[in-house]
Amino acid sequence: MSYVSSGQNPVVPPPAGQPQVQQKPDLFIHTGTRNSDLIYRVNGRDGRLYQAYLGTKLGSIESLRQVRDEGHPAYATFGTDNLFEAAVRATHNDANPSLELKYVSHQTENADANVSLTRIILRDPVYPFEVTLNIKTFANEDVIEQWAEIKHTEKKPVTIFNYASSMLHFDANKYWLTQFHGDWAEEMRMQESELTSGIKIIDSKLGTRAHMYQTPVFMLSLNGKSDENNGELIAGTLGWSGSFRFVFEVDEKNSLRVISGINPYASEYSLPPGKPFITPSMIFTFTNQGKGQASRNLHRWASKYGVLDGTGSRLTLLNNWEATGFNFDEKKLAGILDDTRKMGLDLFLLDDGWFANKYPRNNDRAGLGDWQENKAKLPNGITYLVKEAENKGVKFGIWIEPEMVNPRSELYEAHPDWILKLPNRPEHYYRNQLVLDLTNPKVQEFVYNVVDEMLTKNPGIAFIKWDCNRMMTNTYSPYLKDKQSHVYIDYVNSLYTVLDRLRRKYPDLPIMLCSGGGGRVDYGALKYFTEFWASDNTDALERIYIQWGYSCFFPAVSVCNHVTSWGRQSLKFRTDVAMMGKMGYDIEVSEMTENELKFSQTAIANYNRLSDVIWHGDLYRFISPYEENRAVLMYVNETKSKAVLFAYTLNTRYGETFNPIRLQGLDPSKTYKIQELNLSNEGRRNMMMSESGRSYTGDHLMKIGLNIGSATPLTSAVYEISE
Ligand code: GLA
Repeated sequence: MSYVSSGQNPVVPPPAGQPQVQQKPDLFIHTGTRNSDLIYRVNGRDGRLYQAYLGTKLGSIESLRQVRDEGHPAYATFGTDNLFEAAVRATHNDANPSLELKYVSHQTENADANVSLTRIILRDPVYPFEVTLNIKTFANEDVIEQWAEIKHTEKKPVTIFNYASSMLHFDANKYWLTQFHGDWAEEMRMQESELTSGIKIIDSKLGTRAHMYQTPVFMLSLNGKSDENNGELIAGTLGWSGSFRFVFEVDEKNSLRVISGINPYASEYSLPPGKPFITPSMIFTFTNQGKGQASRNLHRWASKYGVLDGTGSRLTLLNNWEATGFNFDEKKLAGILDDTRKMGLDLFLLDDGWFANKYPRNNDRAGLGDWQENKAKLPNGITYLVKEAENKGVKFGIWIEPEMVNPRSELYEAHPDWILKLPNRPEHYYRNQLVLDLTNPKVQEFVYNVVDEMLTKNPGIAFIKWDCNRMMTNTYSPYLKDKQSHVYIDYVNSLYTVLDRLRRKYPDLPIMLCSGGGGRVDYGALKYFTEFWASDNTDALERIYIQWGYSCFFPAVSVCNHVTSWGRQSLKFRTDVAMMGKMGYDIEVSEMTENELKFSQTAIANYNRLSDVIWHGDLYRFISPYEENRAVLMYVNETKSKAVLFAYTLNTRYGETFNPIRLQGLDPSKTYKIQELNLSNEGRRNMMMSESGRSYTGDHLMKIGLNIGSATPLTSAVYEISE
């Protein structure tokens, strides 16, 4: 690590003959986790705050005092001497566009033995403008959360143009950025590239369904590329369900600054005096042990602190979207309730199409916004379905998309002023719908009531799927009037306000986060949701890549995978793929053969026995589908007494063979029995060798390895590994 200053003027000695000003000693602010340190320095000379160190835990921070160079600006401002991207920019009441932040004080509070919060207050020496940097550390998980609070007491509102959550600096020879991008049905495509001089931006400008093209996550490796077990890197993610931005700027000295936060694009914010602007959290882990460790750190953090009820259990379910679409009635649903029970699943999830009467929801062109049961399809309402489910011994869940409206709806007719759309321009649709103006408290009340009234009337509803099927275009909020540049930020904060209120009344109800597939996946939302729909693409081959991508940042307990008929692979392959996360089904059970039904019932029973290991175990990714013709990964429970291994063969060339795979995370001194699960006649040809039934020590499995998987394309194997 070098400590070359960047973005600030060089130190200029006072001209000869002028008195030497007495310099205060530097002050160090030490934050960190079990294995990493993030250390700040208040420079006694200029009173500014610098990042002095970010990396593997130091033996002692005393040596930093010897380093003459101060480091990099902790939260670079605009307008004085910063020559690069700023973390914060504001224009004061007198039109002065500059900001200078000096250290005022700091304080660290320990919430418990694991979590502590350091708050560093910075203030402009001339203007009553203050920024508090928050650094929350999670010692055991090696995770750091950062956010900023910006406020002022000038006479009139101050416009802020930039308001980063976090600014981090790195000094390495090379920087390798792994980003995750895609589109509908092709979420989380992983791509790694070297950062070169200048700026690389990963962002979203979509407002809602904001992560449809880019997900707010990245991995950044220092010096060389990291692999699963080696390499220094940070894995970071922004907890914000709207437009976000990551700026990676490599300067003339090859130092890298990473600025993360809400996308400031077209979003200058007029901040009234006394009201703090609180940024969302940037969450990251630093490790020198590769991408696998980075993911495990984030998973452990997420289970405890990031995902609602992350340490709890989840319901397996049968969804009807792919099987029926909008085309169902009470009788058909009663049959699906029977199927749910027959399969051994916990819950039936009724998807889109159950509501609206004047403009019935029989396709995606009408009805959105009118949340009354459709009388033709459901003459006896939801109440009847909840009861029927109860009679049949399963639970009932329901789909809603309460932030949206079709122009063909009673809601649209009654409240044209509740909709985001530009005056004087034609309406612009996406999936034939528009976004409601959630910045309007009346709309917030409406959205809250959609859920609250439904749950009050039907307390038996045990699950909700909350969808959001479009981004913002032609964006104009009738409510915000002359503050249109607030809309992207206020929308998300309003959504959180509604979700907060709902969660106060319904703290435990499982709710799936969906956004036309994985168009809204982040830890800002996951505080309120127990799980998310990863993608509408349920082709099992595609899913291996999609789920691989999510596994880098999100724990298996939160990733919903359904067995469907979309892919052309065997039922076994599709089942084995869905099993690596939170499993469900979206399939015509009535069309299954006797064999398929039996296979599925056994698989679900296997899953129920092992789901705790999958949801809460440590993930080890052995073979990446991005690098080889197969994907292999394993979950190990905390006591290392049980593991579940998944092996998928994608495509193979003639004569291709696979070497044994050395497992990880087991106890070398324990003896483990290997049992293959989900055996089926179809799709399970040409096994190289079955290890099923054999026992090996952990030492053997981790040093010599296990022969697993077959060389036949689109085959898979699941192994239960038990002490
Ligand atoms: C979105 C979701 C799907 C389904 C449909 C219903 O596309 O991602 O799972 O719920 O909406 O319209």
